[in-house]
Amino acid sequence: MTNGADELITLISESYLEANDEIIVPSPSFSEYDFGARLMGAKVIQVPLGENYEFNIDAILSRISEQTKLIYICSPNNPTGTYLSKAKLNSLLESIPKHVLVVFDGAYSHFATAEDYSNGIEFVQQDYPIIVLQTFSKIYGLAGVRIGFGVASQEIVKDILKVKEPFNVNSLAQVAAVAALSDQKHLKASQEINENGRKQLYETFDELGLHFIESMSNFVLVQFGPYAEHVYKQLMANGIIVRSGATWGLNEYLRISIGTFEENKKLLETIQSILNEQ
Ligand SMILES: Cc1ncc(COP(=O)(O)O)c(C=O)c1O
Repeated sequence: MTNGADELITLISESYLEANDEIIVPSPSFSEYDFGARLMGAKVIQVPLGENYEFNIDAILSRISEQTKLIYICSPNNPTGTYLSKAKLNSLLESIPKHVLVVFDGAYSHFATAEDYSNGIEFVQQDYPIIVLQTFSKIYGLAGVRIGFGVASQEIVKDILKVKEPFNVNSLAQVAAVAALSDQKHLKASQEINENGRKQLYETFDELGLHFIESMSNFVLVQFGPYAEHVYKQLMANGIIVRSGATWGLNEYLRISIGTFEENKKLLETIQSILNEQ
């Protein structure tokens, strides 16, 4: 258990990276992977995601060198919502050399509904070189409590324990996490609200002619073209916070979190009226 998945990313970086090592990050993705590498003086090799932000395994494999220590796979990926299929994850794990570890970030795994999605755990069980990251910050709604965990072989866990402080996760957070795990009703309700919300957003985006990236997560990346920043500011002025794609160099996009039916309705009506004023 760690103080959020963020702490685990730092611990993995401390365990496996030295100056001049390399990590591979399919990009754009979650910024903490780069933070961990920079902390250790390692180099970040960004491999751009494909045309529709899908993972490109061949491109990832082609960038592996003697210095590569970690390959990060965030699936579903933040901020694109795209995922790596089980078959492709299998093929990646079969193809990497022995000195490389796959860090599979499943922070948004509970929102994924695709039949061919894998949360990575089956590959840990089959002794592949992979560590799976999990968090209570997303579907369990406990981001402020700061708790996450990793699933990996004994050998990897031992490596990480060497750099982990003994009392990193406070006992209140542990109680909250155990309670969250036993609350299947809340989990199922959140999954259902998210799946329905995704459909609700897709329908209106289609009606408005807005291009979006199909998401397996609890947010959708939507293309507003040159209006993106204007829409971002107008939404904010109306009390609706979204993430600007500019954070990841996706200047024409906004990353919009899925809410309840009523919240989504308000968001969609507000977007509609902003676009009508153009
Ligand atoms: C992909 C991904 N991994 C990990 C985290 C960090 O989770 P935690 O709050 O458990 O540190 C986040 C949070 O935004 C995330 O988006």
